Amino acid sequence: MGDAEALGASPPSQSIKEQWLWPSQQPSLGATMTPPASKSSSKGLEGIVAAQSSICFIDGDKGILSYRGYDINELAPNATFEEVVYLLWHGHLPNREELEGLRAKLAANRELPPVALKVLKDVAASMGPMDALRTTVSALGAGRNDADKYTVEIDMQKAVETTAQLATIVAYYHRLRMGKPLVHPDGKLSHAANFLYMLNGEKPTPAAERAFDVALVLHADHDLNASTFSARVTAATLADYHGAITSAVGTLKGPLHGGANIEVMKMLLEIEASHVDPEDWIKHQLAKKRKIAGFGHRVYKTLDPRAVHLAKLSKSLGEQAKNTQWYEMSLKLQKAMKAEKGIDANVDFFSASSYYVMGIPLDLYTPIFAVSRVAGWSAHVLEQHGDNRLIRPLSDYTGELGKKWTAITKRSPPQLEAKAKA
Ligand code: COA
Repeated sequence: MGDAEALGASPPSQSIKEQWLWPSQQPSLGATMTPPASKSSSKGLEGIVAAQSSICFIDGDKGILSYRGYDINELAPNATFEEVVYLLWHGHLPNREELEGLRAKLAANRELPPVALKVLKDVAASMGPMDALRTTVSALGAGRNDADKYTVEIDMQKAVETTAQLATIVAYYHRLRMGKPLVHPDGKLSHAANFLYMLNGEKPTPAAERAFDVALVLHADHDLNASTFSARVTAATLADYHGAITSAVGTLKGPLHGGANIEVMKMLLEIEASHVDPEDWIKHQLAKKRKIAGFGHRVYKTLDPRAVHLAKLSKSLGEQAKNTQWYEMSLKLQKAMKAEKGIDANVDFFSASSYYVMGIPLDLYTPIFAVSRVAGWSAHVLEQHGDNRLIRPLSDYTGELGKKWTAITKRSPPQLEAKAKA
């Protein structure tokens, strides 16, 4: 049995190749009337400023990322996840008392409410981890008498509970599907250590705890990324906090967003299994116009600053585990991608090899992204509710106008209609 199978991962599949191919657009059947000229539009909202926010700053050209004014290079080596959560939600670093207060609240809220635990138990065997997470996060809102309220205090309380419980959902999900007994949270452990403890059933070494904590710090927020934007769009309708977080989890799943870290590890395993030189593999994929998971970014036009820290993590974890092959292969791919296409690694690239040597099953990489990003989603929901305006953009209509009603008996199949016009 290979390493991947031993970890419960599905074997490398054709899916990497297939998933980056898009269906072509349907051709228009011909306009009967021209729609008015559009004001301005940007496919994928590229370059559009859609909110004012004081949470996260990114300079994509210079590769700068900061949370509440603190550069990620300051935070990664120094901060714990709990400190970053406090920073994102309150706008300043906590003093000792404030930090202890948040730690105690998170620790006290780790156990799942009975309805959510029941839902998780019901779906664990039949749903993938992100789907089970989305469904169970939604159930966290069940039975609350403050479900539809969104004052700062209520949102903050929901944020504390959900941040604590989202980690529990992921760990419990894994234990349930493996048929193993649940490991209940240990209130004395940090968020990072407690998650690894609930997942594996043993307390992590200080090095593993710190490595995981750094990964959580690096993933905690990223401005208006797709899942955060989803959360804000939902929150802006004055829907409830849990609805917003559920939207975000649904959005994070996709391979163009949080799901990319799984694809990266599948790619590394596929290269290993096929004994191909990583550089040749990249050239071959690019020649076929395929996208390489873990590279490129909508905002960064240079190296993602998080990738720098995750590369260090991947290296040191590999050295500790006496297995640096995945780190080394990643470096070769990174170099080849830069040389061939001028594209840099993103956050998902080195997180894959880091989690792999930590023994985390592949399909939990994206749920772990959510374990961290819930901090940012919550900060954005709080900010949105604090100064709300419905988010409702326009589309640039490319269809037809002015068509006349046709009785059903006189409608021909679209293909015939198109042929008749040709
Ligand atoms: N592999 C190969 N080429 C890539 C690429 C990748 N990962 N990412 C971007 N490119 C290329 C595109 O092919 C395109 O090249 P072209 O102009 O020669 O056609 C150019 O770079 C622009 O790409 P585009 O897809 O338009 O950029 P985008 O801003 O829409 O995409 C991503 C951003 C993240 C969706 C895209 O880089 C991607 O799909 N990356 C892989 C998935 C991933 O790692 N996602 C996690 C992001 S944190």
